Amino acid sequence: MDPDTTLEAARERIAACEDASALKDLERELIGKKGIVAAMLAEIPKLPPDERKTHGQKANALKQSIAQAIAERRADFEASKLDAARRADDFDPTLPPPRAPRGSLHPITQVTRELEDLFLSMGYEVLDGPEVELDHYNFEALNITKDHPARDSQDTFYCDEVGRLVLRTHTSPVQVRAMENREPPFRVIAPGRVFRQETTDASHDHTFYQMEGLVVGKDISVAHLIGAMKTLLRGIFGRDLDVRLRPGHFPFVEPGFELDARCPFCLSTGKQGCSVCKKTTWIELLPCGLVHPNVLRSGGIDPEQWSGFAFGLGLSRLVMLRHNIDDVRHLLDGDVRFLEQF
Ligand code: DAH
Repeated sequence: MDPDTTLEAARERIAACEDASALKDLERELIGKKGIVAAMLAEIPKLPPDERKTHGQKANALKQSIAQAIAERRADFEASKLDAARRADDFDPTLPPPRAPRGSLHPITQVTRELEDLFLSMGYEVLDGPEVELDHYNFEALNITKDHPARDSQDTFYCDEVGRLVLRTHTSPVQVRAMENREPPFRVIAPGRVFRQETTDASHDHTFYQMEGLVVGKDISVAHLIGAMKTLLRGIFGRDLDVRLRPGHFPFVEPGFELDARCPFCLSTGKQGCSVCKKTTWIELLPCGLVHPNVLRSGGIDPEQWSGFAFGLGLSRLVMLRHNIDDVRHLLDGDVRFLEQF
């Protein structure tokens, strides 16, 4: 078969199609899996070697030209269908267009609002901080100096050539900003978006949400920290949960802890270990600690007179835990099918 004459003939037949369904049949006949072009390609192995390449190229070019002619004809059909609909008697151009599908409040927004209400009721202030942050607040003032190994685990996006501006890797910089323009005693929380240079997978994303908490006052101790955390847990899970502290290292707290809570899912089903707590009956909830004296000093507060506790709640993780979401990336997909579920 000669590709040139085949194209001519195909064009005539495409033009002669009277509706979309005839066009669909013709498409199958010409460029479908068992169509004319497929047959041409199947002949290639039988040809003398020096003709194979040109024959293959011609057959592929033919396929493309036919596909294009079909697409144009299909567009004609659609245009005339629309045209006919517009001419119909019941066409009313003044009607509003169909509504875009609506989602719901994002589960992160929902939990943020709940926690804000809870902490406001305990006398905390809700603060915001910049997402593009100075290296000073994100690292230096939090006792993470230039060569500190803690910088490796919080690699970020540097926003200028000298590395003075970074996308904040945690909400902790708001601690120092809060200290700078407040007189103790005070209590604040700071929910917000944070960023890391991460290879993404089901449990890591480059963008996620945290909520920082900071309390500064006279003789603040680990007992105050535990009390506040138990209230937080009651707010989130609706029941009292035992907690335990394990040592954890963060340069801006001393001592620093990882706080675990008894798995609320096990408690409600009476199980001794489930998939959420990975059979341990404890869930890792948040890191926390007593504010390091150097951090108080960075914020202009005298550590001889005042002390404080701080915590960093992973909101993305909390939402995943709460709704049994298995992939952190769903949270930022913007897929309305995900959002409709909350
Ligand atoms: N900012 C830390 C992080 O993102 C978490 C953290 C640890 C916050 C201890 C705190 C704290 O306030 O006391 O890894």
